[in-house]
Amino acid sequence: MSEYIQNMFGYDGQTVVVIGGAGELGGALCRAFAQAGANVVVADVTEAGCQKRVAELESLGGKAFWTLIDVTKRESIVNALDEAKKPTGKVDVLVNAAGVNFASQTFLEHPEEKWDFVININLKGTFLSCQVFGEHMAENGGGAILNFGSVTSLLPLSKVFGYSASKAAVLNLSRNIAQDMALKNVRCNTICPGFFPAEQNRKILDPERVDNIMRGTPMRRYGNPDELAGATLLLCSRNAAGFITGAVLSVDGGFAANWF
Ligand SMILES: NC(=O)c1ccc[n+]([C@@H]2O[C@H](COP(=O)([O-])OP(=O)(O)OC[C@H]3O[C@@H](n4cnc5c(N)ncnc54)[C@H](O)[C@@H]3O)[C@@H](O)[C@H]2O)c1
Repeated sequence: MSEYIQNMFGYDGQTVVVIGGAGELGGALCRAFAQAGANVVVADVTEAGCQKRVAELESLGGKAFWTLIDVTKRESIVNALDEAKKPTGKVDVLVNAAGVNFASQTFLEHPEEKWDFVININLKGTFLSCQVFGEHMAENGGGAILNFGSVTSLLPLSKVFGYSASKAAVLNLSRNIAQDMALKNVRCNTICPGFFPAEQNRKILDPERVDNIMRGTPMRRYGNPDELAGATLLLCSRNAAGFITGAVLSVDGGFAANWF
């Protein structure tokens, strides 16, 4: 890597926490940060999932750590922050890639408990994590937060009523955090992935939905999780993105630009 690119996009000496790092998209981001030189802390709900990801990152030559976290519980997030500080004494980057999904055929059939389940993890979990890690960053000279939106942060998406509402709210919250924390040198941006088959959405990809996704995606294919790496390394970088906050970046094969 040239010195110029290293200076712009390198993460040597920085600690990056990826919540949901055991998952498919979070995992791709862990690989990207590890290969860019960061100390990567994989934070997720199961020990086995975290350990498997850490082993993968180490096999790539990365510096990897793990901690359990449940984003619905403030004390669990505080505990994860304490663990994540161990390698360097601070956390420079937080990625909120935890998330769950639920589909019902119609709005009237969407169960209230599934609404609570999705909103609690996707929205309240993002709120709590941003508060706990954001306070730490503000006290330590700054940092970068990347939240996970979706194409449905911008457009309603059929059948996933709670999920859509949570992702629209995550985008709004991220922009609000960006303006509120700008003078504390904490940047907050949103990435909006298109369609990447993964654990949380595979069960809702019925043939009609797949057909709609392909018609709505100008590139006529799913994304590969590793295709999120470039946008992520940019938005979280100290120098290349030093003046980027409150931004939303779609990585969706053109879905958000399509009117089909
Ligand atoms: N896959 C896609 O097509 C797609 C598209 C747009 C947005 N997203 C978003 O990207 C993010 C990652 O999704 P993914 O596709 O990798 O799914 P995934 O199911 O592979 O990963 C989600 C991860 O979140 C973790 N998680 C669930 N509940 C948690 C909790 N309470 N505390 C901490 N971690 C918890 C899971 O253990 C899992 O590892 C989610 O926010 C999702 O909504 C995904």
